[in-house]
Amino acid sequence: MSLDDDARVELAALEAAHRLRVPRVVEGVQGPTIVIDGQEVTCLASNDYLSLAGDRRLVAAAIASLETEGLGAGASRLITGTQRSHVALERRVADWMQCTGVRLFNTGFAANVGVLGTLAGAGDRVFSDELNHASIIDGCRLSKADVEVFPHGNLASLERALERGGGRRRIVVTESLFSMDGDVADLVALAALCRRFDAALIVDEAHAIGAHGPEGRGLCAAAGVVPEVIIGTFGKALGTFGAFAATTEAIAALLWNRARPFVFSTALPPSIPAATLAALEIVRGAEGDHRRRILAGHARLFRELVPVAGGAPDSAIAPLVVGDDLEVMRLSAHLLSEGLFVQGIRPPTVPAGTARLRVSLNAGHTVEQVRFAAERLHNAARQREIS
Ligand SMILES: Cc1ncc(COP(=O)(O)O)c(C=O)c1O
Repeated sequence: MSLDDDARVELAALEAAHRLRVPRVVEGVQGPTIVIDGQEVTCLASNDYLSLAGDRRLVAAAIASLETEGLGAGASRLITGTQRSHVALERRVADWMQCTGVRLFNTGFAANVGVLGTLAGAGDRVFSDELNHASIIDGCRLSKADVEVFPHGNLASLERALERGGGRRRIVVTESLFSMDGDVADLVALAALCRRFDAALIVDEAHAIGAHGPEGRGLCAAAGVVPEVIIGTFGKALGTFGAFAATTEAIAALLWNRARPFVFSTALPPSIPAATLAALEIVRGAEGDHRRRILAGHARLFRELVPVAGGAPDSAIAPLVVGDDLEVMRLSAHLLSEGLFVQGIRPPTVPAGTARLRVSLNAGHTVEQVRFAAERLHNAARQREIS
């Protein structure tokens, strides 16, 4: 059979398992209300938590950079791809995150693969939460370290694994706010375990950066925890694109030399870091605080109205676990017909048997939108006995 034949067989199998994914087309700008496949709907599916993705100030900053720095970066950061905006953003993020070294990455996926691939290697042991994002899993695999996956949030199990010892270096890696469950790692306890067993801590704050913590610095900052590396993304609450590793000067320099997705990839177009600088000004200041307060208020209101919704009380990610893959997609289609775009999430993004509606709240939603969504989802949950 040819590769094309194989692809068709695999696609048919995905379709039969109700796991085929098809794109939807958004017209115009991202925001709390979007036009999708020609229909105007309330968007409860994006990670645009602070509703900045369509903000004109970010667009203006990108345009100004396009005029002065052009479009493409021409090569990797190590060659011609380091322009003013890249350098300015790395400095500004270091100031914001209160650390001595910052390295930009083209995506959060590349950041996790690059950081883990650089800091862990053969002979090391990496301890990874079982619900960690695919990019952490791939980073662990590519690192060639010995990987121990511990049950989600189970610190007793992690402690036993650390007690067994071994490994030249030991690294614990976790998300802070879990992307599909909306729950939060016990960062203080994780940091204490790492100290006790002389392990390093890497925390992926992709969904918390901008949305939580003082100046939007994330949940580690909120908890007073300083891991060896924090991974943050700009494509979610900051409304732009790309990612960063916030760390020490030496680790940032090593990433420059060794992180393969950084070294061997064309740099971000400079207009992206330029727009991110504008986003960061908003996120750090009073407007950011205001947007975070609204977001937390929406999260609490939604959970009050839909008590079966999962996740931490203040978290913008509120999953409703349905279980069955087909059922979740039917529910998602039904909600769309009522003007609500809620993504149905199926394996392999989540474990088999835990397909879910992942409600994602944004600061730009109105209280009326949140109430309407909660009412429709509560009805759906009651009728279909979602637990
Ligand atoms: C926890 C986590 N880390 C990393 C990423 C990857 O970030 P990016 O979309 O910038 O590649 C995601 C995005 O989906 C994520 O949920």
